[in-house]
Amino acid sequence: GLKIATIGGGSSYTPEIVEGFIKRYDELPVKDLYLVDIEEGKWKLDIVGALAQRMVEEAGVDMKIHLTLDRREAIKDADFVTTQFRVGLLDARIRDEKIPLRYNCIGQETTGAGGLAKALRTIPVILDICKDIEELAPDAWLINFTNPSGIITETINKHTNVKSIGLCNVPVLMHMISADILGVDRNDVRMDLVGLNHLVWGRDVIYKGESKIDEVIERTLSGNIETVKNVANIPWGDDLLKSLGMLPCPYHRYYYLTDNMLQEEIEAAKTKGTRGEVVKKVEAELFELYKDPNLKVKPKQLEQRGGQYYSDAACNLISSIYNDKGDIHYLNVKNNGTVDCLPDDSAIERTCYVDKEGAHPLNVKPLPSKVKGLLQVVNEYESLAVEAGVYGDYDAALQALVIHPLVESSIAKPLLDDIIKENLDYLPQF
Ligand code: NAD
Ligand code: G6P
Ligand code: MN
Ligand code: MN
Repeated sequence: GLKIATIGGGSSYTPEIVEGFIKRYDELPVKDLYLVDIEEGKWKLDIVGALAQRMVEEAGVDMKIHLTLDRREAIKDADFVTTQFRVGLLDARIRDEKIPLRYNCIGQETTGAGGLAKALRTIPVILDICKDIEELAPDAWLINFTNPSGIITETINKHTNVKSIGLCNVPVLMHMISADILGVDRNDVRMDLVGLNHLVWGRDVIYKGESKIDEVIERTLSGNIETVKNVANIPWGDDLLKSLGMLPCPYHRYYYLTDNMLQEEIEAAKTKGTRGEVVKKVEAELFELYKDPNLKVKPKQLEQRGGQYYSDAACNLISSIYNDKGDIHYLNVKNNGTVDCLPDDSAIERTCYVDKEGAHPLNVKPLPSKVKGLLQVVNEYESLAVEAGVYGDYDAALQALVIHPLVESSIAKPLLDDIIKENLDYLPQF
């Protein structure tokens, strides 16, 4: 039987991963699922853990749910470790959204200055987790969701010996939406997807060997299709989409429609609150539901969260590795020459073939200038973020913001100083 350790087990998304393991029990017999959290999140772990327990009983599968604050106990001899923790919880996210807005700068939890702040808090923790894995479960796979997922994957690859793969639900949603637009079975579609996490382009949508990207773009022009709940669904503009000739991911709006997105954020902050503030309310409602002893399945209301399907993608991936399936996933992996205009040790998000050896990114034709420019600069921003996070290198952090396309360079220093000051409790490296 398999042992899985999920770090950040108190997450409101946990019922989805539990459902994922229950559904696949025949092909993926998870005997022990360790949900790990910290003192601050213990109340969440207790509620969601009790629900997980009821779900397993209701389904009648032989899966033991262990709730623990002892990470090492959970990691010891695990086959897979999944990470879904949020350092500083939602209050830290809300600060990441609000600090940049003071400077009239995009305030988003993964993209731009807020993403750098989240990376700086998360890197020390992921490095500690990796030390535990190196010592206690050196053969385990680490499946990371913790954002910023690309930067965290790159940190693990550059600075540890842990086998790891990063995941995001955005490519999964792009795949589903493209198939739905074409009106075909989702299993018959494959996307040629390439870029970085939250900066990934759908270069093609292939249906039974045929390119369908033009049709998908045509249909995206007329409709205003929502991909994720947490990014305002502002229309792309026909000229932009036609000239791009690819499917942008929802987060591209921060780059392609910067002013509109900024105005939308300023307006939202004044009225309904930032996304983090909205999520705080959603989360409170979810935990009220989770407390109900009669609830024995994943509730529908979880769909209000932007990360839906992410744990299902994790279960799928784990099953493909475990069962040596040789099927296709969209993953964050080491570039290793796949994208010729990026360094080998950068993390890319790419269509991958997965078997028991892990993830193998498919070859990529050279990228055109319209994609390459933005891709390279954001990639270098990410490398600087890794340096800053690992070594507490102030100059690297400052240059990360200076070169970031969403940060006006003259505000980089005061913005960074605010970020460091307001996160000091979580920045042992600084
Ligand atoms: P959350 O606020 O519910 O946090 C999950 C848990 O992490 C909490 O219970 C918290 O106590 C715990 N935690 C904090 N620090 C910890 C530590 N050092 N060790 C162990 N546990 C710790 O967060 P959430 O909304 O469920 O999201 C969790 C993470 O997953 C975030 O980083 C989020 O950005 C990410 N996420 C990624 C995707 C994706 O597409 N990759 C999708 C959804 C969420
Ligand atoms: C998206 C992203 C995730 C992100 C989530 C936020 O789908 O892919 O990386 O964590 O949405 O959702 P939330 O409900 O927390 O705003
Ligand atoms: Mn994501
Ligand atoms: Mn800049």
